[in-house]
Formats: sequence, structure tokens, C-alpha cells
Amino acid sequence: MSRRFFLWFAALAFCAALSAQTILVKPYVQSGRQPMSGAADSKVITWLTDTQPGRFEVDFGITTNFGRLTRPVVTPLDFGKEGRYLKYTAYLVRLPLDGQFHYRVRLENEIIRAGTVVTRKSATNTVEFVVVGDTGDGKADERKIAYQIGRAAPEFAVIVGDIVYPRGTVKEYLKNFWGPYNNTGEASPETGAPVMATVPFYGVLGNHDVGASNLATVADGLGAFYFFHPPRNGPPPLRSHLRVRGTEIQLAAFKLAASDSSPHLGFYSFDNGSVHGLCIDANRYVDFTEPALLEWIRADLTRSRAPWKLVFFHHPGFQATLAHYREQQTRVLAPLFEECGVDISFAGHVHNYQRTMPLKFKPAQAKPDRSGQVNGAFTLDHRFDGVTNTVPQGVIYVVTGGGGAGLYRPSVEEVDPRFQPSAANWTPFTAKYIADRHSFSVVKADPQKLVLRQLDEDGFEVDHITLTKPTPAVPAAPPSKPATTDAVQGLPGGARSSN
Ligand SMILES: [Fe+2]
Repeated sequence: MSRRFFLWFAALAFCAALSAQTILVKPYVQSGRQPMSGAADSKVITWLTDTQPGRFEVDFGITTNFGRLTRPVVTPLDFGKEGRYLKYTAYLVRLPLDGQFHYRVRLENEIIRAGTVVTRKSATNTVEFVVVGDTGDGKADERKIAYQIGRAAPEFAVIVGDIVYPRGTVKEYLKNFWGPYNNTGEASPETGAPVMATVPFYGVLGNHDVGASNLATVADGLGAFYFFHPPRNGPPPLRSHLRVRGTEIQLAAFKLAASDSSPHLGFYSFDNGSVHGLCIDANRYVDFTEPALLEWIRADLTRSRAPWKLVFFHHPGFQATLAHYREQQTRVLAPLFEECGVDISFAGHVHNYQRTMPLKFKPAQAKPDRSGQVNGAFTLDHRFDGVTNTVPQGVIYVVTGGGGAGLYRPSVEEVDPRFQPSAANWTPFTAKYIADRHSFSVVKADPQKLVLRQLDEDGFEVDHITLTKPTPAVPAAPPSKPATTDAVQGLPGGARSSN
């Protein structure tokens, strides 16, 4: 070794010993393991650094004086030449429902991040959240959408799959996702917004999120499993599920590092306010005729007493774009959704916005055919308009895949000789189709009313519907009392108009 090289090497080692770690993903909030509100809420705060360890601490409490302190669990993520990191996870428990808490993450005396987080709502309260899919491709449109989501100030968010392109690796998260949604210092359409500092995101698995499930080939694949901490109330082990492959050592490391999310990220549900959300992995390896899965879905939806039952998955069964048209595997779930009173299904995969009329579908086959299609009989509710008729007869299927990836323009209703489906496979069920801009969904729900709005990348509203629950029969008033006059005329069930 030359003297010059020795000096360079010694200087490098000296600098490394003195340097602090680099924070690669700033602390962000997750919903945590508890699916239901119960008597208290809990949250997870997590962040990622390089391999230089740090003595982090998290102060939190319901006042700005905090009052409580916790230290994070440290998990090494070693992907060899694909990268090495330290992940920090702090579990915040016994948080009050219907309120908020403050937190700050410290490294010694340096504050790394601070924020105020709204806790979960109890069942009778209003909750507002956003839904978006197909986000992390690293382009300008993703940052615009992240900025608009920040402006919407939701209480939580659901990403309905294809969170990061193209293969869902940890490196791709660092390149394409954390900047727009978390790491940016200030909010702007050019940079995004640090939404995840205060808003828990629920992740749903899309095809790109599981695009590198062989860890022997792509060591840092399946990044979603390291970054999301979903509730742990999924089905028992299924015959059809994501197969993670790799060496024995890689699989053992994955099991340990992803213990909060594997296999939980595939199937889980949650409650917040008057909303019950059911999140489903709809990738092609899932068999929607598997009895254990169907029983779990039925039990989950039936058990819930929430006024609004919403389901979230990536692959839409009912949509009118040529791209991905034949991937209709989720259609076989339609009768179960109808039986269990699902109000709206949200999906992504198709990069635009679509909303169907309320519909009922009777499949003619238990499984998709070889092309992926599922034929059956449609019943459409033509009367629902979301304005004067607000009680849908059937499930509304929404595609909200305009989160940033390149838009899909042509629809099956435009002239295209390649599209010649039979009436058993397609009927004009589309109520709204917006494919010339990126967008995301904003949902506000109280026990009687749900408002769905679609906002575009500049914040303009491009769709707006109201759903109401039929008012239960009210016993006749005693004859001596005057008749009430506060019901709004012309709206079903005397529902009040939207503000
Ligand atoms: Fe997709």
C-alpha cells in the first residue's frame, strides 16, 4: 500500500467515525397494528438512516409539553451491494380517540422532525381521507398530486397499489416516493409536501409493488413490506398468496425485518369514524374462490357495524379503459360485496379516474377465463345521480389511478377495432371518465352522508357525488306535538344538502 493511499484511507476512516448518520427517510406516521379504534388509538413513527447508528428518542403527548418518551426499535436492513440501512420504529400507544397528539423525534438535542397528528375517530364522528393509486414514478405529476393531497389535509390516506415504480424496491422508494410525500422541506407543486409527517398512509399491494419478489435476484425487492405498518387482522394462512423467494438467509432476514407487515400487508381492515375499510391484495396469484379468503372477507364485512363499508384493491373489475381491460379477477367478488353492503370499491392500476353507476353483477363463471375476463349479468342503477338521488342501488366502482404515472387515455367507448366484447362482459356502466389529467379522491363521511370528490393535479374539483343512508323509519309523533319542518324537501330520506 502506497503512503498516499494509506493517508487517504486513514482520513476517510477518521471522517466516517466523526460523521453523523444520513437520514434517508425522515420520520413519518403509520396507523399501527390495531385495526379498530377500541378504547384508545396507537400509531407508529418510523424512519430510515444509513448504517451509522444514532441515539434517537421520541417525545410525544397531548400537549406541546409532550410528557411521554419512547425509544425506537432498530432494525438493520442489509441488502448487500443493493444497500444497507438502519430502520427505526417507535410505537406510540394509549393515544386518545377523537383528538390529537404532538410528537418530536430527537437525535440527542437536535430535533429531526416534529408534528401534530389527528387520532382516530370514534364511530359516530365525521372523518375525511384521500384515496390515490399509481403514485411513485418520480415525475412532476406525482409531486403535484402529493402537494394537492397535502392541501386537502386528510386524516389518513389509502394508496391503492403501484406505490412505487417499476419494481417496488427500497432504492426506488428512496428515488421516487419519499421525496414527494415525506422528505421535502416545504410544500409546493414542484416538490410535493411532507404529508406523511402527520398523515398515516395505508398501503395496498399492486402488481409493481410485488414486481421483485425473488430476493436472490433483487435483494431490496418488496420495499413496501419494510415501509408500511398495517393492522394485523388478516385471514389465516392462505393457499394462494404472495410467494417470497430468495436464499435461506435472505428469507430469514425478510421475515425478521418485515415482521410488522408480512403477510399482513396483503389483507387487513380498519375502522375510522363512520368508515370501515377493507384492503385486499388482488394480484393474480390470489385465488378469489379460496374458501378461507372468502370466509374472512364475509366475516370482516358482516361484523362491521360502520355505516360506510369501503373496499380497496389495485385491480379494478369494472372499468372502461382498453389498458388492463381483461384483468377482471376482482369481478368474482361483486356478489359478496353486494351481500355485505359495500358502498364503494376503490382501485387503481388504470391510470385515470372512472366512476361507475351503482351496479350489481352476477358472474356466469367462478373464475376468470384464460384471457382474465369474467362474464356475467349486469344490473345498473340509472336513477342514482349523487345529487338528487343519493341512495345507490348497488356498489359504485371507482378507479382512482391518476396519482402520477403516465395517463391512460382511450376508453372502450371510443372507436377501437380491437375492442369487441360481448354484452355479457361489458355494458355501458360508466358514469364519469376523466383521463386527461391526474387526480385523487377525497372522501368525507359521517354516519348519514358520504361525499366523494375528485380533485385534479391543480386542485380543481372534477367530480362530486353524495351518498346518503336511507333514514330509518321513525315512530309516529304524539298527536299533541307539531310536525317537524327541518327536513330538506326533495332529498331522499330528508337528508340535508351538502355544504
Ligand atoms: Fe398496476
